[in-house]
Amino acid sequence: MRSEDAAVLDDPVGGSLRCHHTALARRLGRADTYLPGVATFCAVPRDPDATDWADLARLLGRDGFADLFSCRATPPPDWEPVFALDGRQMIWTGDRPVEPRAASGDLVELSATDVPEMLDLAARTQPGPFWPRTHELGTYLGIRAGGNLVAMAGERLRPPGWTEISAVCTAPEARGRGHAARLVRALVSGVLSRNERPFLHVAETNTAAIALYDRLGFESRTQVTFRGFRTP
Ligand SMILES: CC(C)(COP(=O)(O)OP(=O)(O)OC[C@H]1O[C@@H](n2cnc3c(N)ncnc32)[C@H](O)[C@@H]1OP(=O)(O)O)[C@@H](O)C(=O)NCCC(=O)NCCS
Repeated sequence: MRSEDAAVLDDPVGGSLRCHHTALARRLGRADTYLPGVATFCAVPRDPDATDWADLARLLGRDGFADLFSCRATPPPDWEPVFALDGRQMIWTGDRPVEPRAASGDLVELSATDVPEMLDLAARTQPGPFWPRTHELGTYLGIRAGGNLVAMAGERLRPPGWTEISAVCTAPEARGRGHAARLVRALVSGVLSRNERPFLHVAETNTAAIALYDRLGFESRTQVTFRGFRTP
């Protein structure tokens, strides 16, 4: 892969908000964020000036929350840091075969009616931020056991040419049965079928998930810092 093909992954939130996700975005000047309930990710230009930060603050409102993991710039000093966590971005390198989605018989596509169960599973397993309208960002797949949702994964950010795989989680009582691996493979297959490439983000401390992604054919591209700020 040429390095310039992946350059858009330096700011995947901005790339998504200004491309495939414009219908789910709010914009003021050169600042962008998602609609409430979809995501709290925000974007400003690569070298933001005071006006860009002021526009983002106006979009979010007083005491608003800005998730800026995709932005290398630091907000003004009166923005209160809320958290910072080391993570990595991984990209699928395409050197291993994936099973076609049709072969994944017990996977179901999740929709708005599944949101309460998706929120419950995310709350129990903590795969990363997940909100009531996050599923509108892409395809979400699940696995049910005894009627209950026990595993899910889906598509989140979508900068040009790429789709992020996210919300990968399995209920504690259903782990170790290959659910996450099958869900991720099915999503990889779907992303590749529209000529895009899969990528994802994972916390540096999440060694189980990193090992899983590594085995599935992802490799680390860059370090990221998951970080949130509160507006003045
Ligand atoms: C990471 C996670 C999704 C794996 O789910 P799963 O359905 O158990 O995964 P699989 O059964 O497909 O396991 C795939 C491989 O990882 C291994 N594995 C899974 N969970 C593991 C754990 N907690 N510790 C060590 N290895 C683990 C399995 O043994 C399996 O190995 P194998 O392929 O050599 O047999 C699950 O542990 C989870 O929900 N964690 C909390 C949420 C989270 O961190 N999500 C990732 C966000 S980036």
